[in-house]
Amino acid sequence: PPSKLKEGLLSVTPPEEHKQLMNFDTNADKSTVSITVVGASGDLAKKKIFPALFALYYEDCLPEHFTIFGYARSKMTDAELRNIVSKTLTCRIDKRENCSEKMEQFLKRCFYHSGQYDSQQNFVELDKKLKEHEAGRVANRLFYLSIPPNIFVDAVKCASLSASAANGWTRVIVEKPFGRDSESSAALTRALKQYLEEDQIFRIDHYLGKELVENLSVLRFSNLIFEPLWSRQYIRNVQLIFSEDFGTEGRGGYFDHYGIIRDIMQNHLLQILALFAMETPVSLDAEDIRNEKVKVLRSMKPIRIDDVVIGQYKSHTKGGVSYPGYTDDKTVPKDSLTPTFAAAALFIDNARWDGVPFLMKAGKALHNRRAEIRVQFRHVPGNLYNRNFGTDLDRATNELVIRVQPDEAIYLKINNKVPGLGMRLDRSNLNLLYKARYSKEIPDAYERLLLDAVEGERRLFIRSDELDAAWSLFTPVLKELEEKKITPEYYPYGSRGPVGAHYLAARYNVKWG
Ligand code: NDP
Ligand code: BG6
Repeated sequence: PPSKLKEGLLSVTPPEEHKQLMNFDTNADKSTVSITVVGASGDLAKKKIFPALFALYYEDCLPEHFTIFGYARSKMTDAELRNIVSKTLTCRIDKRENCSEKMEQFLKRCFYHSGQYDSQQNFVELDKKLKEHEAGRVANRLFYLSIPPNIFVDAVKCASLSASAANGWTRVIVEKPFGRDSESSAALTRALKQYLEEDQIFRIDHYLGKELVENLSVLRFSNLIFEPLWSRQYIRNVQLIFSEDFGTEGRGGYFDHYGIIRDIMQNHLLQILALFAMETPVSLDAEDIRNEKVKVLRSMKPIRIDDVVIGQYKSHTKGGVSYPGYTDDKTVPKDSLTPTFAAAALFIDNARWDGVPFLMKAGKALHNRRAEIRVQFRHVPGNLYNRNFGTDLDRATNELVIRVQPDEAIYLKINNKVPGLGMRLDRSNLNLLYKARYSKEIPDAYERLLLDAVEGERRLFIRSDELDAAWSLFTPVLKELEEKKITPEYYPYGSRGPVGAHYLAARYNVKWG
């Protein structure tokens, strides 16, 4: 059953009451959580993990007794870690007077242990330090693997054999990439399962922690005006769009081995698609939701190479400023064919979605930064107004837009009459703009996901069969693209991407939103 905290979050319980509901253990005062950030010296730890842990602490969402350990090879003292971490913390959600006091209290709970990722001895030393802080309480341990994927298994082996919780739970958060195709992903799963049970593994896809992605199911399943329309009968196409207005700057080495299809489509966009298209789950329980998502993934038609367009950005000078091309990055081979842009048409072979194109588009170094779900509805049959006023059918259909970022919003494009004595039609938005409706800042995805992992809530983490199904869908087309050495269409840095994406959409009678 959902935990007490989750019941609180899913109801309209005010935040103060969540805290009272937050009984992590019946012996709360006797239990503790030790969170070890493995790879604490890295980019993600500094940028996302420590700030998210502080935000949870600031909001009183962490249990009373907790300790945070940074673990990495770099030599550092506790004071040095605290100094680095302190520069990343902000009281951004709401600036209460006690912010700096809270930061100091939080930093006192942060410690550091230097060690190798493949040394059981070093993890035994970590275990000893953790025990000192756990001070005889029931000790639960969460390891966050914020390290490159080639050392995941070593670190899991050492953590599980030498630093597992003796009398509480042990959980491991694993960051993407989970392999680069079906075979390597299955090998990683097999290796992790030598040391962990599936329910100990929390595979993170941070898009599932984004507020508007969480809201997708609420929007659909709790509003009578949407659920009955959610099928091929009324929906013409669905677009899942991700774009960034910067290149792979600084991450070219990683990126060149993966490309945009693996980096964004196979995980973030496909997860959103599965949530969007699933049948009503039996309950909000993690297993019920994940069962429905897997069914969608397993019902998808194989992706045809003709339904995929790839691109790569090239250098471009604008307003006297010159922007580098992808292969100008020193860590990227000059002849790299790795796509930094892709568009694809996907289909779900089931009764609800038969024939509806799900169009995905993801790219780096484009003209804007946005992540959106756009749902274009069919036109009104025999529309009186189209007939009488010759309105362009494309313009006249309704469209629901869920803007995941930036400026989170949900808006519905409708047709209405321009006020006045004449009869002219106009398109307007019924608009829920989050920053106008809610004054509190939206939590970062990592806050929600870390809290869920501490709570043991698995709903927003990827189960191994979901992962297998996601790779089964993309592996064949990725292999074909790579074996045939398909050349990407080049597009200038800061542009709208390759024109091929428009032809692809046009083939299905769709215009990108
Ligand atoms: P980093 O490259 O910064 O690596 C993290 C730490 O791991 C480093 O500080 C280093 O610590 C250690 N490390 C790095 N390379 C090696 C190596 N070859 N062998 C052994 N140890 C190494 O990674 P990020 O922090 O950027 O990312 C961590 C994980 O999160 C990765 O799996 C990444 O794919 C994933 N990720 C990252 C995102 C980001 O925005 N950064 C976004 C989404 C996912 P030390 O030398 O001190 O041991
Ligand atoms: C990561 C990708 O998973 O998501 C990055 O590896 C991408 O390439 C990032 O930049 C985007 O995340 P967000 O939350 O900034 O949209």
